This record gives sequence, C-alpha cells and structure tokens, in this order.
Amino acid sequence: MKIATFETEHFFARYEFNTPYQLCNSDCESVSIKELLDLAGGSTDQLGEERLVYTEPRGSAGLRNAIAAMHSTVSADDVVVLGTPVEGIFLAANALLEPGDEVIVMTPAYDALTKMFEHVAGENRVKRWEITAAPGSWQLDLEALRTLMTTDTRLVVVNFPHNPTGYLPSPDFMTALCALIEENEAWLFCDEMYFGLVQPATNPVPSAADISSRAIVLSGLSKTYGLPGLRCGWLVVKDPTVQQNIMNWKYYTSICPPVPTEYLAVAALRVWEILRDRNIARIGNNLDLAEAFFDRWPEWFNWRRPVAGSTALVGYNVPSVEAVSAKLATEEGILIQSARMFGSNDRHMRMGFGRDSFPEALEKFEHWLERQAGSGGCG
Ligand SMILES: Cc1ncc(COP(=O)(O)O)c(C=O)c1O
Repeated sequence: MKIATFETEHFFARYEFNTPYQLCNSDCESVSIKELLDLAGGSTDQLGEERLVYTEPRGSAGLRNAIAAMHSTVSADDVVVLGTPVEGIFLAANALLEPGDEVIVMTPAYDALTKMFEHVAGENRVKRWEITAAPGSWQLDLEALRTLMTTDTRLVVVNFPHNPTGYLPSPDFMTALCALIEENEAWLFCDEMYFGLVQPATNPVPSAADISSRAIVLSGLSKTYGLPGLRCGWLVVKDPTVQQNIMNWKYYTSICPPVPTEYLAVAALRVWEILRDRNIARIGNNLDLAEAFFDRWPEWFNWRRPVAGSTALVGYNVPSVEAVSAKLATEEGILIQSARMFGSNDRHMRMGFGRDSFPEALEKFEHWLERQAGSGGCG
C-alpha cells in the first residue's frame, strides 16, 4: 500500500551522518549511558544483569508509575509505553479512525502528524488548522478551529510546544481547546514530545492529559531529555476502549518495550528535571546567539524567537531554501532544512537549538553568508 514520502526522515537519513555542521536538529544534546547512570544512581553492571526477556506489553509498572508521576491526574493504568515515540502516531491514527473520518491537523507539522492521519482517514478528509505569523511571534486562533469543526470531526491533532515554530499556547487556551473537543465529542491527539521545554519568560502549560480524558497524549525521552537513541515514547490514554484498540495495533508493531530501554528510561525519569533544565539553558544560550546573528542579517531572514520547544521557523529570503540546503550540505558540510517538508513553504527553514555544536555550525553558516554577500547574494 502506498503512503506519502516521509520527507523529514528521508532528509535526515541522507544528511545527518555525513554533514558536520548542523543547524536544523530537533533533539537536544545527549549523554552517554554511563553519564546517565552516574547521574541517576544506576550502574552499567546492573544494566548488564538484566535478562533479555519479553517485557510487559504496556510497559513495566515501575516505568508507567514514573510517567504517571510527571502528571497530576494520570495513573499508571492510563500509560502505554511504546516501541518508539513515532509509533504512537501510527497506533493512534489506526486505533481512532476509519477511512472517511474527518480530522483537523494544526500545521505546519512534523510530517507524520499530517501524513499518517491522511493515510488512514483519506487525504481529502484532513483539514489544516494553520498557525499564522504575527510580527515577532506565532499565533493560533481557536475561533478558526471552531469554524473548521463539523459534526463529522472525529479528531483534532496538535503539537505543543510546537515543532517547528516553538509556539506554546496559554493555559487558558489549552482549557478552551479541550472544552471545544469535549463539546463536539471529538478526540484530541496532543503531541507533547517537547513537553516542559519552556523558556523562562514563558508560562508553562499543563499536559492535555491533565485537562481532558478525551485527550490522547504522545510524549517521550527523545527531545526534552536528550535521549533519542533510547527510542522511548509513551501514550497517555485514559479511555479504556481506545486504549484497548491501541494495544491491539501495538501487538502488530512492537508488542512490548525493549529491556535495555526500560531500564535506562526508569533511570532517566529519576532525574528528568535535571535533564530538562540543562536543555532549556542550552537552548536559551543558542537562541541568544541566533538572535544576535539575525540582527546582523535583517534583510535576509525573518526571525520570530520561539518561546518553547527546541526549534524555530525562520523566513529566509531566497527563492528556494531546498536548493540552498542541497548546495550547503554538499559543498560546505552545513545542514539547513527547508520548511516545505512540514507543510510550510520553501522560503522558510526549520532551525534547531538543542545541541552543543550549534554555535560552531552557526559560525560556519555566517562565514559562508559573508562570502555570498561579498558576491552580491544571500544564498
Ligand atoms: C513533533 C514530533 N513528534 C514525534 C516525533 C517522533 O519522535 P522520535 O523520532 O523520537 O520517534 C518527532 C521527531 O522529530 C517530532 O518532532
């Protein structure tokens, strides 16, 4: 069966492991297994003693309790640990939808959040709820969602903090969004992969799972906690019937979480606030550098500083970011990503601020820009 090309993952598969200076990653700086266990009080010897058996399909009670404890109204029974975070999008789409169901997706978005739901419901059944540009910030209009919703709307898909814009709604907005979902007896799929990555000047928002039992929340350790190599993700699903459906689909995909991942995820969740706070500080420093950079190049870039998450959507005054990206990667070893892949357009790029290598990559990019400016262009 055909499915749309997953452009972001194809792009990273092609360039991530052979391009030294990267400006577009969404994950945050990682740690070694030893560093994690030293910080969290485990040991590699103990990890070595773990037997490589099948594990509990929903995840071990210890791991599900640790995830539930990050919330105020979630219990271990509401948690389904996944084989990978992205699996949660596949499972939710298949468990919640029938072909022909109406879905509304906040866009631009990480590819799977539109394409997987289009694959299951049908391309012409997925409407876009567009985040819009205001001077210096991004906005999402709840009234626009109300207008898009019909009695057929089964599911609304959102992502807060938002990849790529770094938008985060207010707590009141989240409450009103959940009320609208409940009024319409729809479901909310809230991707919270970047949960808690909130810059100090911004108000944090509660998880949608703590506001409404019609919210199905995806989260995991890849972004906020800098552990993408663990492949640890989970869904919070309070409705028992939906959870059963999701489990049934999961028996066809990953069945149960891997033993080493569960062991290390339990360790990581003992120190999740430390891991998160380090990444908030790292992103804050990189955002300051980026802001100074964009101040130096005002005619070429349109910068809206993200208030949360690890990424930004930046206007770049060239005819095609994709063309510049291909040239920069092959000729200069610098990686930028066109936002066309997220359903934005090819005159924007997605930038990422979570890595320690960001300052050096930015410096390389700036040297290249200076050379272009010397010859009268910007790309
Ligand atoms: C919004 C969003 N959801 C889900 C995922 C999937 O996470 P993972 O790659 O760890 O499976 C990503 C990864 O980039 C993402 O940005």
